[in-house]
Amino acid sequence: MDFDPDDISTNPATDPSFQEVVASRLSRRGVLAGGVAVAAGFFTSAITGPAPTYASPPRNGRSTAKAAALLGYQPIPLGYGDEIVVPVGYSATAFLPWGTPILGSYPAFVPGGNTAAQQEQQVGMHHDGMHFFPLRNGPRGSIHGLLVLNHEYTDEALLQTGTTTLPPLESWTAEMVRKSQAAHGVAVVEIQKSGTGEWEVVRSSLNRRITANTPASFSGPAVGHRLVQTSRDPQGIRPVGTINNCAHGYTPWGTYLTCEENFNGYFRVDPGPYTAEQTALISRYGVGGDRQRWATNDPRFVVTAEEPNEPNRFGWVVEIDPFDPSSTPVKRTALGRVKHESAHVHVTKGGRVVVYTGDDQVNEYMYKFVSAGNWHSYRAGRSPLDDGTLYVARFNDDGSGEWLPLMHGTGPLTEANGFADQGDVLVKTRLAATALGATPMDRPEWVSVDPNTGMVYLNLTNNTSTAKQESAANPRKPNNWGHIVRWAESGDNHAATSFAWDLFVIAGQGRSSGDGSTIADEDAFGSPDGLWIDPDGRVWIQTDGTQPMGANDQMLAANPYVTDEAGVPEIRRFFTGVVACEVTGVITTPDQATMFVNIQHPGEGEPSTWPHNDGFAIPRSATVIVTKDDGGIIGS
Ligand code: FEO
Ligand code: CA
Ligand code: CA
Repeated sequence: MDFDPDDISTNPATDPSFQEVVASRLSRRGVLAGGVAVAAGFFTSAITGPAPTYASPPRNGRSTAKAAALLGYQPIPLGYGDEIVVPVGYSATAFLPWGTPILGSYPAFVPGGNTAAQQEQQVGMHHDGMHFFPLRNGPRGSIHGLLVLNHEYTDEALLQTGTTTLPPLESWTAEMVRKSQAAHGVAVVEIQKSGTGEWEVVRSSLNRRITANTPASFSGPAVGHRLVQTSRDPQGIRPVGTINNCAHGYTPWGTYLTCEENFNGYFRVDPGPYTAEQTALISRYGVGGDRQRWATNDPRFVVTAEEPNEPNRFGWVVEIDPFDPSSTPVKRTALGRVKHESAHVHVTKGGRVVVYTGDDQVNEYMYKFVSAGNWHSYRAGRSPLDDGTLYVARFNDDGSGEWLPLMHGTGPLTEANGFADQGDVLVKTRLAATALGATPMDRPEWVSVDPNTGMVYLNLTNNTSTAKQESAANPRKPNNWGHIVRWAESGDNHAATSFAWDLFVIAGQGRSSGDGSTIADEDAFGSPDGLWIDPDGRVWIQTDGTQPMGANDQMLAANPYVTDEAGVPEIRRFFTGVVACEVTGVITTPDQATMFVNIQHPGEGEPSTWPHNDGFAIPRSATVIVTKDDGGIIGS
């Protein structure tokens, strides 16, 4: 979008007039000195001395030669056109565009002409995070499964009229609001590969749309909390709907996690008076704006002094069982309330569930949740996602880091400071994290763990705010291009409370450009957002925002096991998106022969008619299916 509210800081602790900016402009070598620990042995104490290297030897028995050959395709140049481009030897096909019928009467897509009820039976708008759940064991699981995908937000002009003309505000109706709400949320779609090799939608009872109006529930420490009670739900146990579903996660027990990101912009805040606590929550979470015009006709999205708590019922990670279409989505409050980006799950050797999740706004924080027990030990009705500790990260400038527990009664998280119970801590996660001294970050987006080394990778998309707080883990002010930080948990234990970090890459136009980037000029990219590390260790990087030379958003793969003479990993551009789109969401089938990539908001503000083969002269968000012509592993 033209104006990105994530670029505005609502964290007063990072206001330079409020707190002095940390002037720790470590040289890149200095930053890397911390990285030595990461590569060498997962120490957590401050590391001094040279010999920096990015390379983390794979420990899955892969030979050095095999690791070196991880990326087998010829990289492609930056893209500028209204076509998806993939390397020679690969093919890309659009699939499941916005409006594809998947349910009920399977109503045909009519640009601007579908009703709200029809949109509820169709694929939503603005595809984002996504996972593929196999429906069969063995090889058949790679040609038949459930594709579950998020629909982050809507382009109201396109949705309501099929054109770029936004109807006047005074003409907005309840039906239009309901249609917009129906285009949000999550889609569950059974898909399979036909005999001709084409993927198709199965008319399945598992197909489902979850929208802004789907009944949900709360679980965890904030269930029933006073700050999530409303007149419609006085017990604070039955929230309705999920919105602004950006990235995602999935659990080892076969459920999907959808993250509520910029929920704040869907509300209108009417004049108070509000209590100091209510004012603090509205301010810190940036509630207001009525960006999607829902407040015009849906009182649930109007905040008043009498009804102040509906925004507190969003900003959670929501668990969905895609295999049970009658299941109720559950908002897991133990994972905190922020503008969640991904909720990447990693299981410790002892079976504890660790969920890495970032808060995507300038100067906000990086979190992880750790379950108290082995997930296998939890029985029906109890979830490891309700029982554990939420931590926020402090990235020290010496390359070490700490996970600070957001636990009521510890440190400053006391009643005297506004945290009377754990529910307070979780509803007010951002405030609690500030009280603990977490490190302000350059917009934490997706997280992924290398299955071969246990290293955690985090995309920091950019930070152009004048209130940016610079630190070694968040270098450059302004940070126009973003970077990727990674860390090793102490003892390779993802439940540990300390870690060692380094900078994987600093994005931009390339080393010779003088913009501070560490990558080679031909690997130029900006605004890393989506991130996924495949089973072989390829680090798939997707972009959203400022791109070198005004190019389209893109996807690249990095080989973390091979570095060049400058100590930077091998990177090859794999995919370039269409005009004015975001490339977000990536997963493969288990055999890695089919990759799904989402294109969000093609042609936003610029002319685009992608996908071109659907018979409509308008742009539509869609999933792209990428295959290798020889049927091999994507990226090999
Ligand atoms: Fe929805 Fe943080 O991107
Ligand atoms: Ca994102
Ligand atoms: Ca983004």
